[in-house]
Amino acid sequence: MKSARIKGILFCLATISFVQCTRRNEEDLKSICFESEILPVIQANCTNAGCHDATTAADGYDFTTYRGIMRAVKPGNGKGSKIIKVMLDNDDNDRMPPPPAAPMSRDFIDLMIQWIDRGAANVAGCADATNCDTSDVSYTKDIQPVLQNYCVSCHSVSAPSGGVVLNTYQGVKTVADNGRLVGSVFHLPGFYAMPPSGIKLPDCELKKIRSWVNKGAPNN
Ligand code: HEC
Repeated sequence: MKSARIKGILFCLATISFVQCTRRNEEDLKSICFESEILPVIQANCTNAGCHDATTAADGYDFTTYRGIMRAVKPGNGKGSKIIKVMLDNDDNDRMPPPPAAPMSRDFIDLMIQWIDRGAANVAGCADATNCDTSDVSYTKDIQPVLQNYCVSCHSVSAPSGGVVLNTYQGVKTVADNGRLVGSVFHLPGFYAMPPSGIKLPDCELKKIRSWVNKGAPNN
């Protein structure tokens, strides 16, 4: 009787942890979305005219599509993939994007390594617009990482394209207050469209930027 109960409890625990484990693995696999987390960042930083756009395809690489990116990717081997090696290269002559652009953020490179290590799947349709919380947008947690991934390569203190600095709060606050941040990322008339590759930031990031700017662009 007693042992049956213990067996029952153990069975229960095993079942619960099995279910949780399976769920966690599924979430992990799903958690890197090529379409919304990898492709737009590569497009923003690498596919400007004269670089890895479809027309120029510098060095034979057109990074505007999954197929093009996969030419520099070895599925299962992030660190051995050419696209990662050039981002991590310490030699300024070889690093991508090339100076004066700042290097890609380490967070993005690590995300991309994980994505490749897990097989570099072309996961799409996962940008969940309904899941976009714009009620309490934080500069540190929400805005800065987006600017880091999409903009800082051309807008760092050392290489401020158009005089715009996006890797300090003060720099971001300036363009938030004078309307240029929203004007450029929403591609409003009268502003340079950013990023210059012509592809807009993902919808949720745009909404967060607008909400944060409307609240006075606080350093929160
Ligand atoms: C590949 C380089 C590059 C990237 C990436 C880039 N910018 Fe720019 N940005 C420029 C250049 C160059 C200019 C100056 C205008 C020009 O000559 O086109 C500029 C100008 C601007 C301006 C001034 C716009 C105006 O109309 O006065 C803002 C604001 C700006 N960028 C914000 C951003 C934001 C936000 C991102 C990321 C979402 C970004 N940029 C990504 C190169 C870049």
